[in-house]
Amino acid sequence: MSSAKVTGAPKREQWTGQFGFIFAAIGSAVGLGNIWRFPGVAFENGGGAFLIPYFVALLTAGIPILLFDYAVGHRFRGSAPLALRRAAGKGGETIGWFQVMINVFIATYYAVVVAWAVSYFVFSFDLKWGDDAAGYFVGEYLQTSEAPFTMDFVPALLIPVAAIWAVVLIVQATGVAKGIEKMNVVFLPLLVVTFLALVIGAITLPGALDGVSAFFTPDFAALAQPKVWIAAYGQVFFSLSVAFGIMVTYSSYRKRRSNLSSPGLVVAFANSSFELLAGVGVFAALGFFAAQQGIGVNEIDGISGVSLAFMTFPAIVAEMPMSQLFGVLFFGSIFLAGITSLISVLEVIIAAVMDKFGLSRRQAVWGVGGLLAMISLALYTTTSGLNTLDVIDNWVNNFGIVFAAVISTIVVMWIYKRGPELSHHISALSTFKVGRVWRFFVGILSPLVIGFMLVQVVVSLTRDGYGTYPSWYTNLFGWGCVAIMVLAALIFTSIPWKYDPNKFVPYPEFTPEKQPTVEKSNA
Ligand code: ALA
Repeated sequence: MSSAKVTGAPKREQWTGQFGFIFAAIGSAVGLGNIWRFPGVAFENGGGAFLIPYFVALLTAGIPILLFDYAVGHRFRGSAPLALRRAAGKGGETIGWFQVMINVFIATYYAVVVAWAVSYFVFSFDLKWGDDAAGYFVGEYLQTSEAPFTMDFVPALLIPVAAIWAVVLIVQATGVAKGIEKMNVVFLPLLVVTFLALVIGAITLPGALDGVSAFFTPDFAALAQPKVWIAAYGQVFFSLSVAFGIMVTYSSYRKRRSNLSSPGLVVAFANSSFELLAGVGVFAALGFFAAQQGIGVNEIDGISGVSLAFMTFPAIVAEMPMSQLFGVLFFGSIFLAGITSLISVLEVIIAAVMDKFGLSRRQAVWGVGGLLAMISLALYTTTSGLNTLDVIDNWVNNFGIVFAAVISTIVVMWIYKRGPELSHHISALSTFKVGRVWRFFVGILSPLVIGFMLVQVVVSLTRDGYGTYPSWYTNLFGWGCVAIMVLAALIFTSIPWKYDPNKFVPYPEFTPEKQPTVEKSNA
């Protein structure tokens, strides 16, 4: 029976096989979130004790929602708006577009950070930042202004950012198997070698073990704070690329007879291993740096995010033996990890416009991707780009992704009651079966816990603001960007589909008897 296609719609592209999918999914998961986010987030939220909320979040929400995304993408064979439309009607489609918009915001700043890494890769050869790495980054390189918003462009930033966009759009235009999969199959092994060399080099430095032990020293009191748990869930979602459409899209390119759950476990294991390795490597380097300065690791400034990667790390590199090599390995790793994740973030958007408007891949890539490149250049290559990036990143991750996780699981599992159908779909051809426990985690525990956290996030952002930014600024770039995401989601949903999204039947071998078919429940 091959009633599985949307009538009239072009045939969906596919990975060459399970291997290609796993590479692409790990390539997507392992990104800036692992290298620049995890070590700092863990350190600031209880150190070794953070591993408890981290693993709780991973096992009860991260992996279960990863499988949920796989199942939605594979069963309903579409980009996030298309698959969720088929799974949960018009409301589902709006959630899908909301997820697409999360990716619009992430893609436009993510490309910029990857471009900075390329600049710093080149700077590493002659340690261009000299002995004031922080001053060089903020002053000479980004030329950051005092004013939170300007339209003054920094010409030196335009070139690397435009180059990154050109590379990803060319790969994207080449297609799922020939472009995205090939890039991951080459870049991922290269990343593993580069990053292992970096970590092994770092842990052999004097003082390194003190750094690693500072990282793992548990502060159990931190576990009583809701913010630590929120940080753990936020980290797991961003890092595993779940709840914002990426895995729905990637899974929609899987072949018909696919094992869904085992690759999910492989991807989750690989991602967390990489994350822990990054924690060890970064803290080994910080331990070395603290020993050189005769201070404790806690006394080092700038252990998270942008400052860790582009201010603290270059300063450490300058003190290391074989400085140039360490610099090249570190920024090379950020580039390799980042670009494969950026491709996956963009693919959510490309796939969605292809499905909705019936565009060819090339039209979608050059039209929509080109527009995103312009926005990225306009917002982040100015002298106030760093501030904008910081605020948007905070709102999109701590509010946007968490909100998407709650609402998508509630609508699909509670309102449309797809739980049994999806767990059956995952288990039909998989070695690792899921059932009631999975449905409990995805359908009940996650929405409740994450929903509770979301309320805390909203209260704290509204009451305390964020960082030292004035409230007009966080309203404009924080809540303003949430408003744009919601509005755009509603507008896109109201536009008619080029091909009827409901002319569709799930693969019959995955459909349990006596379950409603998608056609019936959408009718
Ligand atoms: N999962 C990607 C990362 O960790 C987005 O950076």
